[in-house]
Amino acid sequence: MFDLTVIGDCNVDVLVRGRDYALSFGQVEKYLDETLTCVGGSAAISAMQAAKLGLKTQLVSVVGDDLYGSWLVGQLTGAGVDCTQIATRQGHSTGVTLCFLKGADRAMLTAPGVVSSLATRDFDLERTLSCRHIHLGSYFLNEGLHPEAVNIFETARRLGVGRSIDPNWDPNNEWDSNLLRVLPMVDYIFANSAEVHHIFNRGHSKELGVEPFSSNQLVVEKRGDQGATLFRRGKSQLTSNWPLTVGEEIQDSIGAGDCFNSGFIFGKLMNLSDEQSLEVGCICGARSTLGHGGTGAQITLEQLERLVEVPR
Ligand SMILES: Nc1ncnc2c1ncn2[C@@H]1O[C@H](COP(=O)(O)OP(=O)(O)OP(=O)(O)O)[C@@H](O)[C@H]1O
Ligand SMILES: [Mg+2]
Repeated sequence: MFDLTVIGDCNVDVLVRGRDYALSFGQVEKYLDETLTCVGGSAAISAMQAAKLGLKTQLVSVVGDDLYGSWLVGQLTGAGVDCTQIATRQGHSTGVTLCFLKGADRAMLTAPGVVSSLATRDFDLERTLSCRHIHLGSYFLNEGLHPEAVNIFETARRLGVGRSIDPNWDPNNEWDSNLLRVLPMVDYIFANSAEVHHIFNRGHSKELGVEPFSSNQLVVEKRGDQGATLFRRGKSQLTSNWPLTVGEEIQDSIGAGDCFNSGFIFGKLMNLSDEQSLEVGCICGARSTLGHGGTGAQITLEQLERLVEVPR
């Protein structure tokens, strides 16, 4: 029995730092300053953050049969994530995103590899739902799950398992692919401001354009350095922002939202209030900006306990 199952994308972020990213063909070679290989994928980053907070966590995902795939499983296992249900797709490559860093901004090139191929045949549904809460990261990228997502969440609901989703960005710019049938079944929807706009401003929007899809649902809008706002029944209820990064050097905001998600879920699983859970989410998000990639500076339970009271 797990506290948390995270299902979704697991890939590699290669952070690239340099001054001149322009490619010059004709076999011209240029120097970069450095590259850093990091655990990437919304689901993988969330799973790692949850494990660091002491939640018994499994990741349900797929990687390629290459160096990156085995490296990812090693990193996740080392952080305490159960990787039994990470499938290895023979003869295929792990997804890789090259993140070209420029100050606080970044440009990204992604080779999705096996990311979109995760499907129900890859995992055991009973084991997947042996948990208190299930979270799906990067709905849109996980195309193989689109036909089954309604069934997975419906079964989770019947079993009394808590449910959440972070759609992240839709590269097809359609903002549905069955998502609108899945959303009414989840307890918490996490999305950043641009994603909230695309998902909720569809004609049924009311105050501030955020009308939940079901009555007790919480919508959490992540707002970068402005923190996060929680909506219940269409009304904005709470905003939180933690001054953790003031005076600190921010490395990058890659994966901050995925760390936020796990912090919020952790709070709810520990029976903290909405307000405290939002705070824990913001602490996890802000803290992750202080290291490289999504997992370079994730907060641990011990460090969190110095900032907020966590019931035992
Ligand atoms: N520059 C920052 N300073 C302080 N806190 C930050 C900063 N960037 C992000 N955070 C914290 O992390 C949370 C999530 O970040 P963000 O809004 O970037 O989510 P996101 O767009 O889903 O991120 P991701 O890139 O992981 O998908 C924010 O709500 C905030 O609490
Ligand atoms: Mg996000």
